[in-house]
Amino acid sequence: MSSDAQTRNEQGSSNPQLPPYPDALGHPLTHSIRTMHKPLMFRDNLCKHHDVSRSYFFGAGDIYNLSHPKLFKHVLIDNRESFGKSDDFRIAFGEGLVASEGGQWQQQRQILQPLFTQNKIDSYISGMTEQIHRRADSWESGMTIDLQREMRRLTLDTLFATLFGRKLALEGDSDIHNAAVQLHDWFTPTSYPLPEWVPTPARRRFKRGRSKLRTIAGELLSKKASAMTDNSSNPDDLLSTLVNLREQTDDNAMLTDKQLRDQIVTLIFAGHDTTASTLALALYELSRDEDLQSCFHDEIDNIETPIDRVTLNSLPVTDQIVTETLRMYPAVYVIPRIAEREMTMMDYRIPNQSQVWLGVRQVQTDERFYESPDTFDPSRWEEGIKQSIPDFAFAPFGGGPRFCIGRQFALTEAKLALAIIGRKYTLHRIDHSDYPPESQNHSNTPDPPLTADMTLRLTPGTEFYLSER
Ligand code: HEM
Repeated sequence: MSSDAQTRNEQGSSNPQLPPYPDALGHPLTHSIRTMHKPLMFRDNLCKHHDVSRSYFFGAGDIYNLSHPKLFKHVLIDNRESFGKSDDFRIAFGEGLVASEGGQWQQQRQILQPLFTQNKIDSYISGMTEQIHRRADSWESGMTIDLQREMRRLTLDTLFATLFGRKLALEGDSDIHNAAVQLHDWFTPTSYPLPEWVPTPARRRFKRGRSKLRTIAGELLSKKASAMTDNSSNPDDLLSTLVNLREQTDDNAMLTDKQLRDQIVTLIFAGHDTTASTLALALYELSRDEDLQSCFHDEIDNIETPIDRVTLNSLPVTDQIVTETLRMYPAVYVIPRIAEREMTMMDYRIPNQSQVWLGVRQVQTDERFYESPDTFDPSRWEEGIKQSIPDFAFAPFGGGPRFCIGRQFALTEAKLALAIIGRKYTLHRIDHSDYPPESQNHSNTPDPPLTADMTLRLTPGTEFYLSER
């Protein structure tokens, strides 16, 4: 491992060529089929021997894949004006923060940033704690859970309770839960080859989900607007901030009603599934390593409750588990951009308007930057490794001005949930060939089954058995 790792394919040519289609991936016309079946394996092979490579998908055309931290810095910081957001985000989420650009993005980011400061996140801790306890208390010893589903429900409950002031029913509000899941259907790989206007079943599901969530967003905003007129509302919460932008209307409105609703749908999309996947995969890894589990239990068993910021900041093992999960299983495993001019990267030509994908997972599991990169080893973060790896060798929240606005929210929620769940239950991966689960040999538990479309997550339906501690 070297912190100043050599790049793999600098050519030193004065006549830059397009990057290669890696041989290991077969003929470019087969790339679409290969990525649909095994997207992660496809991406790993794509980036294995090349820091700049090319793949071809029907419909989308050539994709330019980058897998070196230097290139991430080039795109996200040094030349950020030359890279736009992909059209998919704009089509899916209109003018919310994830999709907007230029002055409009800057204005929105300035408005929303104060709602994600450390103090603000600390004020959400009690609401998060209540939601996590509520879900954990609804489980009981001996019960079997679909881990990804439970974590998704938990993070959506938390998001609604803290940011939107609405408590979702524990096992109800299924229309909202289903709609939030359907937001991912826009990014289903089987839709890639078809033009955007073709109503594939996945796209129809996406539109139903988005429309449901826009309606909910409209209701939340109207309710908040009425509460504000009778002064019974906190003036600096998210919804009041958004309503105030509309209140400065009409000719001078900072955001239209549609933009306000888009903002809420964007936060639902960006803010729950990502944390849910991180939590599910952290719990998966904990369940198969008894030594790690006992260090973790030693750390969390004697803490003061309810857990506050001071306690959260003094949980190094929990912190390392979350960090290592974000390294091996970054929920946003690819960051997409559009090149807005022709350019050269590592001596390869990148045409104007081409799609450029930053391979976050590939960089974070690259042996040039991490020893034994495919081993889940939270203790690697003990030894000041963050200072020894290059900038952007760890980038689960992106980087530059557009880095994740919800980073602190996600880290706080993830550590809190791990600690609360870990104090109450031990989880056992169910292997139906060897029952009861408590008697299984944990070190034989296979690698987690992963699903990758827009985000990387534990495959839904992966079951765990709970035993109370
Ligand atoms: C473990 C959990 C999370 C991960 C791994 C994650 C990852 C990311 C990444 C990589 C980006 C940058 C995307 C890009 O540059 O194109 C991003 C942006 C964003 N994230 Fe997160 N995120 C997480 C949780 C959250 C939460 C909890 C929220 C909100 C409550 C949130 C809201 C956003 C928003 C609004 C953006 C767009 C920011 C902008 O463009 O200015 N994220 N996230």
